[in-house]
Amino acid sequence: MRRKQFNKNCTFFIFCVLSFIGRSLSDDLINNITCKAKASSLPNVNHQKNIKVRCPANCQLSKCRVTGTSVYTSFSGVCCAGIHAGILSANIGGILNVEIDHYGGRNYVGSTSNGVTSQEYSLSWHLDFTVSGESEPLSEPRVAFGISTTTSKPSIELS
Ligand SMILES: *[C@@H]1O[C@H](CO)[C@@H](O)[C@H](O)[C@H]1NC(C)=O
Repeated sequence: MRRKQFNKNCTFFIFCVLSFIGRSLSDDLINNITCKAKASSLPNVNHQKNIKVRCPANCQLSKCRVTGTSVYTSFSGVCCAGIHAGILSANIGGILNVEIDHYGGRNYVGSTSNGVTSQEYSLSWHLDFTVSGESEPLSEPRVAFGISTTTSKPSIELS
């Protein structure tokens, strides 16, 4: 009787662990965002250093609002920053690693690159970011000892 109960719980527990690991390794760590989503609106932006996003295809370059060059202020569109930086093709979209700097900086330079014109901002700003391609390693390991160190959150759409 008791043994039967244990087996049931054990099976359930293993299933939970496996599905948790599976989800952590797959799409759930990637936030599907819109073309105009700003870095400041990314989940956990104030606490997390690396955030992975998926940008849609066909972002309209003329609608891009980006401030900075290579380093972008948090009020910049993430996908547009990726296009400006030459990491992302506007036609194709794709995955970006966003690295957040919680100290921010100052004197953000404007430039035109890959069809996107970015603004300058000469004052200091408390939060900025850089972007890199999907193949760049994240600075923190996602999995240690088979258990995810990152809290698994469902992907969300940001407007
Ligand atoms: C995010 O986008 C990918 C690719 O288009 C899709 O497979 C996945 O289901 C999306 N996730 C959510 C939560 O919408």
